[in-house]
Amino acid sequence: MILNDKHLQFKKKVKEFADNVVAPRAIELDLKSEFPHDLVKKMGEMGLYGLFIPKKYGGAGLDTLSYAIAVEEISRACGSTGIFFAAHSSLAIAPIYIAGNEIQKQKWLIPLAKGEKIGSFGLTEPNAGSDASATETTVKLIGDEYIINGTKCFITSGHVADVIVLTATKDPSLGYHGISAFIVEKGTPGFILGKEEDKLGLRGSITSELIFEDCKIPKENLLGNEGDGFKIFMQTLDGGRISIGALALGIAQGALDATVKFVKTNSKNNRLLSRYQSIQSMIAEIGTEIEAARLLIHQSAALKDAGKPLTKEAAMAKYYASKIGMKATNIAIEIHGMLGLTKKYPVERFIRDEKLMEIGEGTSEIQKIVIARQILGK
Ligand code: CAA
Repeated sequence: MILNDKHLQFKKKVKEFADNVVAPRAIELDLKSEFPHDLVKKMGEMGLYGLFIPKKYGGAGLDTLSYAIAVEEISRACGSTGIFFAAHSSLAIAPIYIAGNEIQKQKWLIPLAKGEKIGSFGLTEPNAGSDASATETTVKLIGDEYIINGTKCFITSGHVADVIVLTATKDPSLGYHGISAFIVEKGTPGFILGKEEDKLGLRGSITSELIFEDCKIPKENLLGNEGDGFKIFMQTLDGGRISIGALALGIAQGALDATVKFVKTNSKNNRLLSRYQSIQSMIAEIGTEIEAARLLIHQSAALKDAGKPLTKEAAMAKYYASKIGMKATNIAIEIHGMLGLTKKYPVERFIRDEKLMEIGEGTSEIQKIVIARQILGK
């Protein structure tokens, strides 16, 4: 897919920001496990949130393809900043845009899209990870209030979120039919911040446990209709998988770029590493696979922008990009040799950051189930 001038110019603008502002912070964020409050603010000022949201709701009025380009560029510089960006946009902003009523859009979508508030997405639970319909968090309507009880885990940006979009069931025995989606604001009594995870990679991003104990929210915070929650979240994940694919792609491209620099500046037996055919072969292989992943991601973004079904293509993009992302970061380390395992080069961070892409927003095995069901029929 060839990008048009508008997309190319946009890519250049985000690339400059990523190279000059995001990349210099990446090492420190990783080493100190520091959340990038400064970058979050700057990305908001640049109008990067809500790229695919209309201007009337505080967005940039661009498209999903622009968003995928931006996630790739930011993640090429820093995976931790990339996952914040992707989760805030695809997982918190998108479901309110998809299923919110006008009042909800005015109240929550606009500040989220402008970057005035941070959002997160509460689907995963201790007993409902890959099997998302096994939600155990319960909800009861009493008078004008919903009362939520349960625990969500591994929630990106949970501790810093102002707004969380979450699922809860009125009766776990109803399966996905019992699940509804709600918006809960930070500070609501009974909404408790649990532990924060200490992770292998993406160490500058926050991954939280969130606990709800008799947490009362107004009934106006129901997203869509009762029982719609599972489908709203599945539709949200279709879009989210494009951005996780773009994140995986960005990290893979970062690893390739670092490796190209390394082989062009390091020699063996007075011969640059880039002149060895075995090195060229590895670079050619990952370069080709990175380009193929980019095509899948851009295709699924274009399908979304055209309002066409994208469940299969988004799952393929996420599955393939994360798979070749692991391969690319692994080869990058092999080419660097022992140096690749040290903090002197960024490739050890890239491989740690990349691993989440095969797990978050549906594991590779889940993506294969989604793809196979689309190819074979249910
Ligand atoms: N869009 C709209 N509707 C959908 C849909 C989609 N993409 N996928 C399924 N549905 C509908 C189905 O049509 C069905 O409705 P009908 O009965 O009316 O036809 C209903 O939802 C139930 O669908 P399934 O029977 O296919 O559901 P299932 O229980 O077999 O599960 C699954 C499907 C694909 C395995 C799903 O559970 C899943 O995606 N699991 C992975 C969860 C996941 O990705 N979690 C990631 C958490 S977020 C995260 O990681 C964030 C982060 O920050 C890192």
